[in-house]
This record gives sequence, C-alpha cells and structure tokens, in this order.
Amino acid sequence: MPIDDADGLLAHIAAQVRPLLPQGQLPQYIPQLGRVDKMQFGMALLMLDGREAFVGDADVPFSIQSISKLFALMLALERVQVDQEAGATRNPFINAGALVVTDVLCSSFAQPELALLQTLRQSADDERVDIDQIVMRSERESCHRNAAIAHLLKSYGRICNSVDTVLDTYCRQCALTMNTRQIARCALPLAISGRLSAHRARERLSAVQRHSVTALMLTCGTYNAAGDFAARVGLPMKSGVGGGIVAVIPGVGSVCAWSPGLDGAGNSLAAGRAIELFAKHTGLSVLGSPARTFKAL
Ligand code: DON
Repeated sequence: MPIDDADGLLAHIAAQVRPLLPQGQLPQYIPQLGRVDKMQFGMALLMLDGREAFVGDADVPFSIQSISKLFALMLALERVQVDQEAGATRNPFINAGALVVTDVLCSSFAQPELALLQTLRQSADDERVDIDQIVMRSERESCHRNAAIAHLLKSYGRICNSVDTVLDTYCRQCALTMNTRQIARCALPLAISGRLSAHRARERLSAVQRHSVTALMLTCGTYNAAGDFAARVGLPMKSGVGGGIVAVIPGVGSVCAWSPGLDGAGNSLAAGRAIELFAKHTGLSVLGSPARTFKAL
C-alpha cells in the first residue's frame, strides 16, 4: 500500500501512543539508563525512494544498546569472513552470540568500536553518531552477567580475545548513541530487494546476507516477545533496552521508534506499539495482515 501522507500517519501514531509513555519501566541494571526522561517519543520513517518522515523526539540521541548487535553483525558480515561454524551467526542477537560477534570484530580491527562508529557515521551520513562514555562506564562497572557469559565462552574456546577486551568493546558498542533518523538510515540497506537496482551502490551485504539478517530480526529481534511481534506486526525488528526499536520493511524502507519506558519483555512499550500501528495502518507486513491471511485460508 503506498504511503501518501507519511507525516500525517506518524503524527497520528504519536498521538495514539502518548498515553503509554508514563507506563513503561526504565531498566535499572544499567544505572545510567534508569535516569532518562520516560516522557520522550520519537519516530522516523525512511523509504527507499528517498522520502523521509519523522515526528516528536526523532532527533534526540539515545543509547542504542542491543540495536548495536544488528549493526555489529552487519559489519562483521560485510568486512570479515565470518565462519558460520565459529558460532558467530548462530544467534548474534542474544548476549552470548553478540559477544562472539564482538570478539570477531576485536580480531579483525585494531580499534573495533571505532570501526563500528565510523561505519555508522558513514551509513547515517552524520558525524554526530557517538559513544556515550557515561553509559559505557555505567554498564562496564555492572556487567556481571555478561562477564559470566564471556568467561563461559572463553572456557569453551569460543572467543579468541581476552574477556576484558571483549567486554570493553561490547560495552562501548552498546553505549553508541544515535537518534531514530540515524538508526533508520543505517538499517535501510536491509530493505533493499533484488529488484531495486538503483540502490546497488549502497548494497554492502549480499542478498543472501540481507535475507539471513532480516530472518533473524523477525524471529529473535525482540527477545522473548519475538513470536508475539511476528504475529502482531510481521516486520523484521531489533530492539534495545535504551528504548529503541528499528524495523525493516523489505522493498519499501525502514522505520525506527524510540521511547525509554520498557514492557515486561524489555522492549519499549510505546515504540513497539507505534511500529505495530504503523504496520496496521499501512498493511505493510511480511506475513500479510491477519485478516488477509485468514481470508486466503
Ligand atoms: O548487554 C546488555 O545487557 C545491554 N548492553 C544490552 C541489552 C539489550 O539492549 C537487550 N538485551 N539483551
């Protein structure tokens, strides 16, 4: 379905999710993320034909957290020969798999977090993408669970670099700060379908790699709620505990929503609902709308 009035649609969605903003919970296990103002909401839509629409706090930078797992994976696939059997592509969206991807980047770049930062600045075409040192230190000082996972991985020989090197890099990548428009721009290449030759120059990943990454987003991008989101929204998505959620609309574009308050599964309450409303209003879903699916059956 064509999106004729994208600005109007996003404004409508922002108004609809507003009552949810006070209801979400801030994550407390990374102390700095617990100090953010919950009443913020922003959303950005970027289409492959170049059109863009945004609303609310779309330009406010926030901590991308686990969305960095998506971008780290894209960088690893793009620049590094990732041996599938080394575990890096098993599930790079849970922390154990993400730490293995970070380890691959540590082996491949002298300053891996800078390689990721530069890649994102280039993809977003925006030098303001940055790493928040306060968030980084806040997580590094309290990342006991990730340290335990990294030690376990090390004991099985699944990571090559020292546990400290991997944890330092992982906490820096999670502390990347971006706004919704920058994130949508960096995820846009995942929306390119084989037919869109005008975008060939921007295709850094092969069609097979894009397919694998979006399949992973659809099935594992929103923690334990991935099945629920697949049924309700039907778009490949990746969320982070900073409150951001980015979704890919294959062949159409990318959309990112952000609001800091989280639901019980750790996904932004308002951003999740906003992307669900977007899919419902536009009929854009890789699985088709429930109504249409049932009719076809
Ligand atoms: O590793 C963590 O716990 C955070 N840096 C990121 C968590 C997140 O966004 C969702 N979790 N897996």
